[in-house]
Amino acid sequence: MQVAIDGPASAGKSTVAKIIAKKLSFLYIDTGAMYRACTVIARNHGLDYGDESGILKAIGQDGIELKSENGEQKVYSAGKDISVEIRTPEISANVSQVSALPKVREKMTTLQRQMAGKTDVIMDGRDIGTTVLPDAEVKIFLVASARSRAERRLLDLKQRGIKSDQTVDQIEKDIAARDYKDSHRKVSPLKKADDAIEVDTTSMTIDQVVDRILSEIKKSK
Ligand code: C5P
Repeated sequence: MQVAIDGPASAGKSTVAKIIAKKLSFLYIDTGAMYRACTVIARNHGLDYGDESGILKAIGQDGIELKSENGEQKVYSAGKDISVEIRTPEISANVSQVSALPKVREKMTTLQRQMAGKTDVIMDGRDIGTTVLPDAEVKIFLVASARSRAERRLLDLKQRGIKSDQTVDQIEKDIAARDYKDSHRKVSPLKKADDAIEVDTTSMTIDQVVDRILSEIKKSK
């Protein structure tokens, strides 16, 4: 079974996807972490974030690996754990430019499909239901108000121990800018798949969102 969870930044996709993966023993793949890793690689190589061929070459050299350690997904590149680095405001501010590069997307999409393989998988991102896993049995499009998403992002940064001087207003502006770029790029923009179920999580608890998605999974079995 394939479950695709898409939606704008900080709508709660990875939080609920992780819980569901654990409950059902599905493989969880956080595709946003992969585009973030591409951005860290570009930065480490001193490349311009629009340098498609340079970034592709650097990704080929350093590689990107997702590993599950004690139930947590870790991201490695060039033998280094970059799981915290990929979440910094600097990387968040530049990831949309890197993820808009068609050849970078092609490479990540291929990797994502390989990782999904033939096992039960829950994958979250922006283009999973539309492009990466178009035949997924369950497609969910998670949305929430910009304000509540900004508040969640701030809490998430704190919980991950990432220092940030940003106020909730600044974070709200940043995620709105990222959503705009992600929705307006040429290749695989952020978009609800025609057959996806939209769930507005603004006034829902995590448990309620998890239960809602679990009921959709049950229905499709
Ligand atoms: O999910 P997260 O907010 O970590 O994703 C970071 C960025 O990676 C997104 O803003 C988007 O630019 C890119 N992304 C994408 N396609 C995906 C997942 C993420 O373009 N499937």
